[in-house]
Amino acid sequence: MSTLNQQLELSRDKFIAHFGEVPYSIAYAPGRINIIGEHTDYNLGLSLPCAIDRWVTVSLSPLDNARIHVISEDFQGDMQFELGTSYGPNASWQHYVYGCLMLFQEKTGLRTGFQALISGNVPIGSGVSSSAALEVAFMNALNPLADEALDPMTLIQLCQQTEHQYLNVKSGLLDQYASQFSRAGKAMILDFKTLTHRYISADTLNYTWVLCDSNVQRTLSGSKYSERVKETHNGFLTLQEQFPELKTMRDLQEKHLPFLNDPLQQKRIRHYLSENQRVIDTVKALEEKDLKTVGQLLTSSHLSLRDDYEVSCMELDYLVEEALATGYCLGSRMMGGGFGGCTINLVRKDKIEAFSENVEASYFKQFNRQTKINRYQIVDGAGVFPVVKNVPHRF
Ligand code: GLA
Repeated sequence: MSTLNQQLELSRDKFIAHFGEVPYSIAYAPGRINIIGEHTDYNLGLSLPCAIDRWVTVSLSPLDNARIHVISEDFQGDMQFELGTSYGPNASWQHYVYGCLMLFQEKTGLRTGFQALISGNVPIGSGVSSSAALEVAFMNALNPLADEALDPMTLIQLCQQTEHQYLNVKSGLLDQYASQFSRAGKAMILDFKTLTHRYISADTLNYTWVLCDSNVQRTLSGSKYSERVKETHNGFLTLQEQFPELKTMRDLQEKHLPFLNDPLQQKRIRHYLSENQRVIDTVKALEEKDLKTVGQLLTSSHLSLRDDYEVSCMELDYLVEEALATGYCLGSRMMGGGFGGCTINLVRKDKIEAFSENVEASYFKQFNRQTKINRYQIVDGAGVFPVVKNVPHRF
């Protein structure tokens, strides 16, 4: 697999091939994994993500007029319009790009046109947040064009707004935050109430994180996701009526659960509470290198996502069961929004091959579908490199 430098060089070369000049800058943003803390971000909870060695890159040069020309290598398409005129995005990637651009322009008063090329190697639809990587890379590419550059937190909040306003998904900040702020070799405990994070060592001794891709398209994810956002929000409002001292979701405790009459809301909030606690417990266990406990917490997270939050699907459940049945895996759970995507597993380094063979074979037998098994390095978050014009640049 290629390194960041190789991806940057590739991006520059493709830009030159399309536009006939060296780009002014190249921005990059990685995909992410999330060790634990799922469906907590939009309710001001806790998560434990890391960025992975797959990136979306955006090479860009400003123009001396208001023309916008953006090419996507992966989707083999482009969009062209004048800044200040309306444009109707007609492909999924274009909604992200257009939304980011509109919100960035609103915030900074951007007047400069530009040409840009998007490429990268974050697997699409595999649950490692290729769309957040696209937003974050694109925002980082736009930032040097503003009279006054935005701080990284504002940048990622604009990315989140893009999802809310232009994709109609009320997602949290997990993916963008991880893509922007991660550190190589570290996991990041992230508090969405205070928007702060702390790095801990991601070293897992003779175990490693392995992802199994269910290869199931997350068709339901948009609508079911919004449903969960609403259910938990309504549950909170119901409790707030009875306990006015509750200011945010983070003030909720187990003792409040019996006061929810709706069993569905009770289950949803129970997941939120237990998952936040599991993040805290996982951090402690990781710091103590108690990997057995980390594994158990992972698997209980899956059960909670399956039974209380109901965002799993039979393929993900099967992958978890089979992973655990190999005997080489300390814990397993679905990762990300759910209804497809992948599982994350803590697997013995010296047994990865046997683990993969077992899981691949049984998954294929059961569903007549391939699973892709992936391992990633944990890398730094997003950034932007200036490229000196007309000087051959080596990264
Ligand atoms: C998706 C969303 C994130 C987060 C996860 C679930 O990846 O984009 O904001 O809610 O689902 O943890």
